[in-house]
Amino acid sequence: MKFISVVLAAVSLLLVEATPMKRELEVCPGQVIVSETFIGAESNVKLSEVFCPENVASRSLSARQNNGTVIDVCGDTCNTFCFTPSGGGPNPNDCTVISNALLFESQNVNDTFLIGTGTNNTVALSFNTCETFFVNQDPITESYCLSDWAAIVNFIAPNCQSTQNAHGGLCVAADGQWFIQLRLSTALSVIHG
Ligand SMILES: *[C@@H]1O[C@H](CO)[C@@H](O)[C@H](O)[C@H]1NC(C)=O
Ligand SMILES: *[C@@H]1O[C@H](CO)[C@@H](O)[C@H](O)[C@H]1NC(C)=O
Ligand SMILES: *[C@@H]1O[C@H](CO)[C@@H](O)[C@H](O)[C@H]1NC(C)=O
Repeated sequence: MKFISVVLAAVSLLLVEATPMKRELEVCPGQVIVSETFIGAESNVKLSEVFCPENVASRSLSARQNNGTVIDVCGDTCNTFCFTPSGGGPNPNDCTVISNALLFESQNVNDTFLIGTGTNNTVALSFNTCETFFVNQDPITESYCLSDWAAIVNFIAPNCQSTQNAHGGLCVAADGQWFIQLRLSTALSVIHG
């Protein structure tokens, strides 16, 4: 896994291209939480599968159809961008609880997880003030690993906080096919449907 570059300045242009800023307000527009479970040694980190209704409309039929193929993106390089300015970010200690839960699951259950496409392309984890979510931007199912997600949480949380004039951030795959965001937890609590 490689995710070394931290960019603090002039981030807006890149961010607009990588991910709309409205993603900072909710995991996705019109988000619906379809399932919730709790992971970690103390079963205190919430794992939510998020249904993103607008992804149906925004993603027109792709040349690459979802035909059951799974692409392994574990270990892919991603580039970190911090959200400026400071204020309103997650408590890094809460983020550490999330990364520890990810490592616990990785070691005791399975390091590999699948993430769907289209409306089913987002998985979120939250504990107290900290929330992180993985978004598959590829039209085919992706396979990723919890240990890498933990490492990215451990990287963004201390490197994108108020001392860096930031309040969380995201790591965008070098090829743009997924990103992981980390920020203040929103109300990911109501289960619909
Ligand atoms: C499924 O789609 C992938 C990505 O376009 C392609 O590489 C693969 O050959 C396809 N597999 C089948 C069985 O059609
Ligand atoms: C781990 O999860 C992956 C993806 O769901 C699955 O293909 C694999 O069989 C699982 N491994 C074990 C040991 O359960
Ligand atoms: C969404 O993706 C997850 C993970 O691959 C899968 O277990 C679940 O069945 C999918 N749900 C739908 C509605 O496709």
